[in-house]
Amino acid sequence: MEAVILHGGQGTRLRPLTHTGPKQLIKVAGKPVSQWVLEQIRDAGIKDVITILGDNNPTRVVEYYGDGSRFNVSIRYVYQGKARGLADAIYRVKDLVSDRFIVYLGDNIVPYDLSKFSNFHGSASILLAKVDNPQRFGVAIIKDEKVVKLIEKPKERISDLALVGVYGFTREIFEVIENLKPSWRGELEITDAIQGLIDKGRGVEYQIVDGWWKDTGTPKDILEANYFLLDKHTVRRIEGEVKDSTIDGRVVIERGASIINSIIRGPVYIGVGSKVVNSYIGPFTSIGDNCIIENSEIENSVLLDNVTVKGVSLMDSLIGNNSRVEKGNKWQKLIVGENSTVII
Ligand code: TTP
Repeated sequence: MEAVILHGGQGTRLRPLTHTGPKQLIKVAGKPVSQWVLEQIRDAGIKDVITILGDNNPTRVVEYYGDGSRFNVSIRYVYQGKARGLADAIYRVKDLVSDRFIVYLGDNIVPYDLSKFSNFHGSASILLAKVDNPQRFGVAIIKDEKVVKLIEKPKERISDLALVGVYGFTREIFEVIENLKPSWRGELEITDAIQGLIDKGRGVEYQIVDGWWKDTGTPKDILEANYFLLDKHTVRRIEGEVKDSTIDGRVVIERGASIINSIIRGPVYIGVGSKVVNSYIGPFTSIGDNCIIENSEIENSVLLDNVTVKGVSLMDSLIGNNSRVEKGNKWQKLIVGENSTVII
């Protein structure tokens, strides 16, 4: 069995963070979102991975994951390019998969036992979760333990079981996709493809996720995923240098990092080579590699790599790679990209 991880899409809702690379590579709690996905797949015993690449700096994905050996899996790459829909992306693995395979959206975090999910018997299987706002999702209608209909963003409340970003397929899906027409938004939709299987009388199974899960499509989602992953996975590990500082609770300080005259209160992740001086880093904060934090307080935030923060207090913040946030004198000097939020 193979697992297909999607790295395409436009990521418009995460601009400007996605101007330089795909959203699946945004680091949360010390790892790209899609690395959490990859490790979950590997830990379920699936070692044969196919990664679908989009057109937003796809070489960054290949550079990061390589042939997969660093993660104890084997990775093959397929180029989708422009985002023409999930069904279009899936069709591209037709010549690479065997009878059964799973598909996982590389920007989703769905804590669920995939070995249980991949063991389906019908033509396809979907993962569902109860949601409060079904009108924002694709939802499934269930009768007699079978999926009978899928509806994209329903106007009326006919089901509160939304599709989360993990699917199981047999090769039958390719024939349906060959006959699909693009939707009103010009994409080949995965819900239409699965509906096509149902219409042909094929059995589509489902399983229900009853805990937390997240589609990390927006900055708020990234902060929520960071909170959850730090809380669930952080185990105290201090490899960097600590001087005149208090390190409280579940904190990771990677090699080459230094913490000087500061207070760190976990769960917190501090990446390789980062320097924290005269500062307070509070719970649910992830700091990337090679950051510099001086005279600042930071809580419940994500700083990506090579970020400099000096003399400010940050909460619920998401700061992109190679950015600087500094306290000025009376006048604020700002260079702000499109769709940014600055609260002073
Ligand atoms: P979305 O989040 O629905 O789409 P998007 O990435 O274009 O985001 P935005 O709405 O902010 O512009 O995509 C869901 C997942 O599927 C995500 O991991 C990207 C991936 N994807 C592909 O790989 N190929 C595609 O053609 C599409 C539409 C999405």
